[in-house]
Amino acid sequence: MTDADLVVRLRAAGCVWAEDEARLLLEVPEPERETLVMRRIAGEPLEHVLGWAEFLGHRVAVVPGVFVPRRRTEFLAECAVAVASPGGILVELCCGTAAVALAVASRVEGLEVHAADTDPVAAGCARRNLAAVGGHVHVGDLDAPLPRDLAGRVDVIVANAPYVPTGELELLPHEARDHEPRAALDGGPDGLDIQRRIASVAPAWLAPGGSLLIETSEAQASGTAAAMATAGLDPRIRRDRSRSATVVVGTTA
Ligand SMILES: C[S@@+](CC[C@H](N)C(=O)[O-])C[C@H]1O[C@@H](n2cnc3c(N)ncnc32)[C@H](O)[C@@H]1O
Repeated sequence: MTDADLVVRLRAAGCVWAEDEARLLLEVPEPERETLVMRRIAGEPLEHVLGWAEFLGHRVAVVPGVFVPRRRTEFLAECAVAVASPGGILVELCCGTAAVALAVASRVEGLEVHAADTDPVAAGCARRNLAAVGGHVHVGDLDAPLPRDLAGRVDVIVANAPYVPTGELELLPHEARDHEPRAALDGGPDGLDIQRRIASVAPAWLAPGGSLLIETSEAQASGTAAAMATAGLDPRIRRDRSRSATVVVGTTA
């Protein structure tokens, strides 16, 4: 099979970025490559097939059944880099692969990193990804599994928690609906259930002057900000229209 043949097969299967995908698949030697191509043609997300997703220049490990880090979430990581201080403590809640924590810890020197997710398979990916920065990964509901001695000492909490309203799940692309767990996507009736829970627990973990950063959507940003204000944080909405990305940054007094 020539490179051009691969592009033709991917395009026929509906892959919009067939040339780019072919270039990445061609990095994999045969005979393994053909197995991966067949999985991709059958509709699996490219990242699950390859076993990695690109995120701010990192190849982040991701396996089937785990949420694929999105390019828009790079903005959350960039916002976190802007508020993190060298030698501080960073926590990523609902971490999935912990792509955000990895990107921040690679850019801010000496961070102590903790990441947590309820899904043990996602936590396994996070452990692989954070090994390079010495990060700690915990399994459990939101902040419940974090070491108690972090209370009042965390400089930055980041979260890209599920925020799709339940009634809009069916509008997601089939790759998300069919290959990512519902628990990674479903944010409840207005999409903000988990964000509200995160906002309510964050102040107990944050150090004075610390920040909570939550990815949200343009339409939901005022709701995310209201949840932070209710929790006693001072919220600011930040947007990067080029990536359709919205982040609310809530700071302690
Ligand atoms: C939208 S995905 C984002 C993953 C990662 N932050 C990212 O941006 O790639 C949401 C993640 O939250 C996790 N999650 C959902 N509910 C949770 C809960 N109650 N406690 C901890 N993690 C949860 C899911 O397992 C999933 O990995």
